[in-house]
Amino acid sequence: MVAILGFNRDQIFSAVRQMYSEVAAAPATPFHFPVGRKACLFVGYPKELIDGVPDGALESFAGVGCPFRANIVKGGDRVLDIGAGSGTDTLIAARLVGAGGKVWAIDMTPAMVFKLRRNIAAAGATNIEVLEGNAELIPLPDASVDVVTSNGVLNLVPDKARAVAEIFRVLQAGGRVQIADIVLSRPVGEERRGDAKLWAECVVGATVDEDYLDLFRSVGFAEVIVLRRYDYFSASASADTRRIAAVLGGRAAEITMRKPMAPRSAFSVWAERLRPNVLARRAAQHGLIGLFTSVAAVAACYGVLALVVALGFLGLSAPINEQLWTGLIAAFAILAAFALAWNQRVHRSWLPAIVGATGALLVLYALLGTYDWRIEAAGFAALIGAALWDRYLFRRAVNC
Ligand SMILES: C[S@@+](CC[C@H](N)C(=O)[O-])C[C@H]1O[C@@H](n2cnc3c(N)ncnc32)[C@H](O)[C@@H]1O
Repeated sequence: MVAILGFNRDQIFSAVRQMYSEVAAAPATPFHFPVGRKACLFVGYPKELIDGVPDGALESFAGVGCPFRANIVKGGDRVLDIGAGSGTDTLIAARLVGAGGKVWAIDMTPAMVFKLRRNIAAAGATNIEVLEGNAELIPLPDASVDVVTSNGVLNLVPDKARAVAEIFRVLQAGGRVQIADIVLSRPVGEERRGDAKLWAECVVGATVDEDYLDLFRSVGFAEVIVLRRYDYFSASASADTRRIAAVLGGRAAEITMRKPMAPRSAFSVWAERLRPNVLARRAAQHGLIGLFTSVAAVAACYGVLALVVALGFLGLSAPINEQLWTGLIAAFAILAAFALAWNQRVHRSWLPAIVGATGALLVLYALLGTYDWRIEAAGFAALIGAALWDRYLFRRAVNC
């Protein structure tokens, strides 16, 4: 489960409440993430969209993108804004749905809820209902809304799978979602993930890009489309936050999707999760391609050899194409060396790549030049050693 391992939920909730109480009460404080009207324009809101939103809402804006780029909120819709904060998106949605529509705004931080109510009153909006509560347990009946909007929130939620299941539940069939959130290129190491303060600053609670999209696909959402990705953390005032975001490949994404009219079968959901490209992508995100291909090179060489010997004992012979066999071993060894060089971007050490490339060259020399089993074995040993060293450095780097 993506959500509840390796950290303390209560600490996260408490850190998030504390952080966003400050954003509500003292928005001019320098935060590690952009806040206020300037932030709103930086993350991509057209000026016309925020015209008419009271200053009290804009000053505590802490969203990470412009979910309205999806252009799905229509007159008469019932909209739910999850993690509404001081209410910028709630008030924009209330204007778009008009008097015939309705907006529910949910947030779990009492100071934000207090400010949200004040801003709604200041705007004179009468089609908004405020709910103080948790995105993991939305206090609305099944199939009661047409659109869910959320901005910079799911990365803060400990049990994301549950929150996504709740979004799916409250949406009516054919309902739509618009979300702006933080996504990563690499998973956060378990130690870092337990840092409640960094979590509240929108960094380490985030999920790897494709895993984030899979969270939605796996509950049954269709047409999950990323409208924009951009470098949100470049606007952070903190050099440390910018560094951590760079190591993890953190950025903001604006996403839209639709709840299908008919539910998908369990088989199609599992078939999606086990697609070879999905598995390969997971291995790459965890920096495991170098290790897997090194092991594959060794297995292709000695595994096939062991098979030939075993069959020989049974009086059988294996029809092996030697050129194909050699080519396969060489391909795995070369791929391993490249994968180790690729991981250098994360841990910044060329040593595993150099040792791995030396190992691959020794294997190639033994295979294609003068065969000597000792050179071949030394090559494999160097490849495996380099892959294990690379794995160690990769894990250390993602724990920052
Ligand atoms: C980054 S701020 C964004 C606020 C608002 N969407 C905006 O664009 O200004 C995140 C908001 O989500 C709320 N929040 C965080 N975790 C939540 C949860 N599990 N349930 C409900 N609200 C949550 C916080 O209290 C905070 O107001």
